[in-house]
Amino acid sequence: MKQVITLEELRQARAGLRGSLGFVPTMGFLHAGHLSLVDLAKRDCDSVAVSIFVNPTQFGPQEDLAAYPRDLPADLQKLEAAGVDLVWLPTPEIIYPQGFNTWVSVEGVSQPLEGAARPGHFRGVATVVLKLFNIVQPHRAYFGQKDAQQCAVVRQLVRDLNLGVEIVVCPIVREPDGLAMSSRNAYLDPDERQAARVLYESLCRARELMQGGERRAQVIAGEMRRLIAQEPRARLDYVAVVDAETLQPVDQVRGRVLVPLAVWIGRARLLDNLLVEEKDGRFSFQF
Ligand code: PAJ
Repeated sequence: MKQVITLEELRQARAGLRGSLGFVPTMGFLHAGHLSLVDLAKRDCDSVAVSIFVNPTQFGPQEDLAAYPRDLPADLQKLEAAGVDLVWLPTPEIIYPQGFNTWVSVEGVSQPLEGAARPGHFRGVATVVLKLFNIVQPHRAYFGQKDAQQCAVVRQLVRDLNLGVEIVVCPIVREPDGLAMSSRNAYLDPDERQAARVLYESLCRARELMQGGERRAQVIAGEMRRLIAQEPRARLDYVAVVDAETLQPVDQVRGRVLVPLAVWIGRARLLDNLLVEEKDGRFSFQF
């Protein structure tokens, strides 16, 4: 596995890779969710490149940039074991040199939900993803359904700016009790870790309601809110029932619908979601 830092090293290593290139952008502190993206990329592509970069521009001033967990030696070991060809570890100065002053702002899908809760977040994500794509020049890039809105933003970016990168969205990888894997789970103490199960439980409850024929968004979201309110360590940020493409709220579950939620447990802000596909009154669920 080749490890590079500078743009020059990256370009040289990239030029040595033949055939199709799969790319997995990450912020490190890798877990089985990240590695599932690597595995899918390995399956589809001739070579796989991974970037590890804790992107400062997608963190708000009050957010956890400084505290964001890091463990480079463990990450490199995992990527080596997974058979990655190229790892890029740029510094903030490489991505944002003195005088950097161009930003990518995806409108529409980046505005509700995470966009409303974290102003500027998706501007940082879209800007760094475009830069990473331009530099790495992958054929395909792999993103996790766990960050469903990020997937929608990246898809819009690729479509609007003709990036010619195929975006592959990969299923959420969960802990045995259902908690979606996340680098931020490292912030949870044992009691909070228990409490964090409420995210998945509320999604299971939503599924149960829909399986029982419930289509009203208000009823589904209301029941999820009620469950979350029963967990004293949880503080709900939002739960919503939205169109899976536009991320605009819907009244009724029809077609492809996303049920995303964001919940604070202690100092960790955790995300999860459920994708519902309704066709001719039959539901299928992905989460
Ligand atoms: P990060 O949070 O490190 O996540 C990197 C990728 O792993 C994202 O596509 C994310 O959705 C995916 N991922 C995280 N947890 C997952 C899980 N439990 N199951 C499946 N996939 C999972 O997302 C980012 O970094 C950044 O915003 C980035 C795209 C790198 C831009 O800075």
